[in-house]
Amino acid sequence: MHFNLSIAAGLATLALSLTFANDEARPGADSIGDPYYPKLGAGGYDTERYDLALTVDMETGSIDAVATITARALHGLSSFNLDLYGLEVAGIEVNGKAAKFTRDGRELDVVPKKPIREGKEFDVRVAYSGVPTPAPDPSVGGTGVGWMRKDSGIFVSSECIGAASWFPCNDHPRDPALFRFTVTVAKPYVVAANGLLVDEQDHGDTRTFVWEPKAPMAPYLATLGIADFDVVVEEGPGGIPLRTYFAKTLDARERAGFALQTEIVEFLELCFGPYPFASVGAIVADEDLGGALETQTIPVYGRGTYDDGTIAHELAHMWFGDAISANNWKDMWLNEGFASYGSFLWVEYAHGEEAADRDMRQRYRMLRRAKVGPPPDPGVAQVFSARVYERGCWVLHMLRDRVGDEAFFEILQTWVEAKSGKTAQTDEFLAHCEDVSGEDLDDFFAGVLFADVIPEDARFE
Ligand code: ARG
Ligand code: ZN
Repeated sequence: MHFNLSIAAGLATLALSLTFANDEARPGADSIGDPYYPKLGAGGYDTERYDLALTVDMETGSIDAVATITARALHGLSSFNLDLYGLEVAGIEVNGKAAKFTRDGRELDVVPKKPIREGKEFDVRVAYSGVPTPAPDPSVGGTGVGWMRKDSGIFVSSECIGAASWFPCNDHPRDPALFRFTVTVAKPYVVAANGLLVDEQDHGDTRTFVWEPKAPMAPYLATLGIADFDVVVEEGPGGIPLRTYFAKTLDARERAGFALQTEIVEFLELCFGPYPFASVGAIVADEDLGGALETQTIPVYGRGTYDDGTIAHELAHMWFGDAISANNWKDMWLNEGFASYGSFLWVEYAHGEEAADRDMRQRYRMLRRAKVGPPPDPGVAQVFSARVYERGCWVLHMLRDRVGDEAFFEILQTWVEAKSGKTAQTDEFLAHCEDVSGEDLDDFFAGVLFADVIPEDARFE
């Protein structure tokens, strides 16, 4: 009989890992590991819920806030990291006990009194205050993103790294969580946020608005709109609540596109499958917000983004970007290419074939003329570039041409089914396309998706 080495080794490993499971708590990583943002997010835990209670002073712009974060430890944690940009932290408790913390730029390190054991759920209560300022983001040339205080009110548009400008968080789309917002503000200000308006309390001079999305969301998709809005409440697609918050100064022409929200969602449902959330709506600011953002269930629109094409783009993100999260910011084309294609589909449907042809022809010529590079992994400075939006959109149009309408929409709908509530990356989408269509698409993607410039196509010249 010979000595069985592998069993002996196995037992030794088992003994070691049992010891470590009990004793070895170590600091959670101070980064989630996104190559575009070396210190963004954190490791060692998964957030499950953010319960944010804020009192907002519209005169000074300051907030007084408590964030209660529920998370689960992925390994024993002697300390863990959150992102928070600016603001003053008064105190942190972990599971009801005062915790030590240190801050360095956006990094907030928390040392609980007792280490947290692997697999355990824990609560982090952060009391903080101050005047939030937008967080500089290299994806938009170093401009600030997140909490924006304007003359008419406060608007939040956080892509990519602005969530940390108003609450401590694991600021990355790979770690979505449930949220609740309890926001108190003086009259006549009204608060809009993601999800359902579940409560409204009148305290005389002030009011508290409680909002709760029913599905998990990435921190950058969390929003607040605080202004003296005109609120339009309707029954939306499939009977879900549709709430549109218009800045009072917007005229009828500027509001007109938003009357199409239900029709747009119902059209997109035909393309992508059932709308993924329990409410829908819009925060329409009469301010320059650097565009619009697909904040979950209630996109926020700045000046110049009130057209039905943009509304369709933001609503298409509810499937692509919101229900399905990007695994890393380099996979952004899975958000923006798809939302842009959703907008194209709406244009094709609502404005006709001719308008759609013109749109694609222009896109093709621009992509060829400007030699626009491949969508995947564009680099942080080009996350919002034509590589991602315009070429991403073109890739989908060519895929539709390659596999035919039936397989194409099957690909999109089954992608949503497979990936909702999960993260996605480029290689997974390509494999999915081959699975569903039953075709070998390597050569196709080598040209349209990966080549330095899109292949020539006489039909669009
Ligand atoms: N994802 C948004 C859209 O295309 C764009 C956000 C632009 N980002 C910014 N920080 N301004 O709908
Ligand atoms: Zn977009």
